[in-house]
Amino acid sequence: MDRFHLESKQLGQKFNTKKTDVGTGFFRLSETDKTLGLHWKSGSLKYRDFELLSEGGIAKLYSCFDENLGRQVVYKTLHEHLSGDETEIQRFLREARITANLAHPGTVPVYELGRDREGLLFFTMKRVRGRDLREIIKTLKTRDPHTHNAFPLHVLIDILIQVCQTLAHTHSRGVIHRDLKPANILTGEFGATYVIDWGLAKVWGEPDLKKPVMAKHQNCELTPAGRHYGTPLYMAPELARGDSHIDARADIFGLGNILFEILTYRQLLNGQDITEIIEELLHKPFPSPRDIAPENNIPAELEKICLKALEKNRRNRYQTAESMMEDLLNYSKARKTSISRE
Ligand SMILES: Nc1ncnc2c1ncn2[C@@H]1O[C@H](COP(=O)(O)OP(=O)(O)O)[C@@H](O)[C@H]1O
Ligand SMILES: [Mg+2]
Repeated sequence: MDRFHLESKQLGQKFNTKKTDVGTGFFRLSETDKTLGLHWKSGSLKYRDFELLSEGGIAKLYSCFDENLGRQVVYKTLHEHLSGDETEIQRFLREARITANLAHPGTVPVYELGRDREGLLFFTMKRVRGRDLREIIKTLKTRDPHTHNAFPLHVLIDILIQVCQTLAHTHSRGVIHRDLKPANILTGEFGATYVIDWGLAKVWGEPDLKKPVMAKHQNCELTPAGRHYGTPLYMAPELARGDSHIDARADIFGLGNILFEILTYRQLLNGQDITEIIEELLHKPFPSPRDIAPENNIPAELEKICLKALEKNRRNRYQTAESMMEDLLNYSKARKTSISRE
């Protein structure tokens, strides 16, 4: 069974698809031709059957049903305790508008931005029926055979190539993501890959909203509120130092970090708190993927690409997402050629 069939099978189970959702199965005229009453619901009122999808440091995500169009969507809203926080509100609005305007096949379509009846901000977007890369890598680590069949290394590299392509586009429009990590990469149906969560995105040449404040005991996997650097475990050295001039090369480091996890199924940094993580990030040499995961038979070319993207000094990294993508594509082509010769 190929990746897409396997995925759809697993997703049917994961999302517990509702009968009313015409977007997932066979169309039924009783659903598509229903009248839209004179007192039709607009704004947040048209959504029902909320189910919590994810709860991070800043936002909550629900899957819910849009009564008018008869489809499942994802509804993102700020945590209530942040609803009066000006910085987070601005970031939330920025995320919705950047995502909506990027309108690239590698970003999720945004449907609407508004306030619910309590005045809380929300935006809705396409519900991607897929898995995020964090969950995929976690499952690969358990040697789960289904996930191994659906996501062998070359498929993961194809996913990363798509991420590079998306970033090459956003960088060309002046947008740096700054919070790249496996949880922010979604694999969808039909081979699509999405880069999500543009809440920390920086727009070139524009001042930042707030100086970083690092809490010593924060959860290092989550994106904490109130700062402009990425999730501690995934940030680039220049972000951790709080450098004032950040450019697209911070995202190249993020791509290297994701590649490291794809290759090893392990995180690059293992510090227990911010101080330890920053010490590893800034001052200790990174482990070589082939040394720490010999059981994965990591190809030397991929290790080389990974370590180049992870150079601590950004001048030594790939300078653009395109150049990293080119090396990944060359690896991919060479692999296909050698298979066809066998
Ligand atoms: N459009 C979507 N469709 C399906 N799942 C999604 C979608 N957006 C986010 N998710 C899931 O929710 C998680 C958190 O979403 P994200 O936007 O990154 O929120 P946060 O700002 O809390 O990190 C993602 O890692 C992914 O698993
Ligand atoms: Mg996220």
